[in-house]
Amino acid sequence: MARIAGMPGPTAGGAGPAGRARTLAQVYRHFGEVDAAGTSPLYERVAVALSESGEALRAIEAAPARKRHPTVILAALHDLALAGRAPALAAAYAAADGDAAAEAAIGTLLRMTDSVVAIAVRRRTRANETGRCAVLYPAIAEAARRAGANAVGLIDVGCRAGLNLTVDRVGITYSNGQSLGDPSSPVQLSSSIVGGRPLPARAIPEVVARVGVDPDPVDVTDADDARWLRACLWPDQPERMAMLEAETSLAATAPPLLLRGDVLEVLPDAFARVPAGSLPVVTTTWALSRLPLESRLRFLHRLDEATAGRAVAWVSAEGVGVAPAIPTLGDRRASGHSIIGLAVFGPSAVRAEAIGRCWSRGRLLAWLAGSP
Ligand SMILES: C[S@@+](CC[C@H](N)C(=O)[O-])C[C@H]1O[C@@H](n2cnc3c(N)ncnc32)[C@H](O)[C@@H]1O
Repeated sequence: MARIAGMPGPTAGGAGPAGRARTLAQVYRHFGEVDAAGTSPLYERVAVALSESGEALRAIEAAPARKRHPTVILAALHDLALAGRAPALAAAYAAADGDAAAEAAIGTLLRMTDSVVAIAVRRRTRANETGRCAVLYPAIAEAARRAGANAVGLIDVGCRAGLNLTVDRVGITYSNGQSLGDPSSPVQLSSSIVGGRPLPARAIPEVVARVGVDPDPVDVTDADDARWLRACLWPDQPERMAMLEAETSLAATAPPLLLRGDVLEVLPDAFARVPAGSLPVVTTTWALSRLPLESRLRFLHRLDEATAGRAVAWVSAEGVGVAPAIPTLGDRRASGHSIIGLAVFGPSAVRAEAIGRCWSRGRLLAWLAGSP
């Protein structure tokens, strides 16, 4: 790969320990040549160019070590481009011009190092949340059926941008021909069914509350937050960008109440936001692994404590063995798939069950619960 004109190589300049610079160079080269290759020609070109620029690598080293990863720095640069603060980079991305993008990315990084680092420090990169709803929809409908509820209040823990809270407002088509949700929704998802068991065909009942809980939630109605979500996507992924636009626009028409904080502290407040007469359904998707085991057990107690006077349901999609009380079906931990759990807490008993397995964050799903 050619060097960017005028930019020195990774060992030039002498500032910073050479070993660390080399390591960072390798990380960027690997990201470009392996992670981005074939998916994002722009990021492949930009990451390799950054790996070959000593000045760029030293600028990246101004960020704390855990914030130097290409996904973080490239998202920060993309954010500046989307905000109109890096017009050359924005133009190169828009033109899908890899050479111009590489040169503009390095130029922006050198010129606006403080801004790039500030964004990287303040923000957390976001995974693509699409797909979760394909798992959550049938599980929430099943929770409502089991609790005999005709209205639910959704509480998503570890909600990030709160897109799980639009679960009843999307349309989902499954590979076995079933469909759930709203077929006219601007957000249409698909998921592959593994195994022969069909999903329950029930609809989620009326949703009377949407509450997101996260120490660092992203508010889709806030321009900076919404732009950050777009910045986390790679600039040459127009389908994903269009899907995100559709998802955030849909979420913004009925924005969730976002409660900022630790789940153990905030959950009682979240329950208080769910009107009496409706079933609070707490959802966690790949969030509990962020909590130590003791906190996960305390989370379970919080759910149990909330049952005074009404049932509470918890729907989880978590790695094998991560969700306390949810059976692991004998599956090995870290086996690459996740267990879909459903627990209904009544005044006197808890019924916790593994109702399915899923892969690739919901792109494939096997339903296991009793006949629909
Ligand atoms: C891996 S992300 C999963 C996000 C989302 N649920 C999904 O499916 O992509 C984990 C989320 O849990 C949140 N989180 C971490 N610690 C938490 C805590 N103590 N209480 C609530 N949420 C927490 C993080 O901020 C992050 O948004």
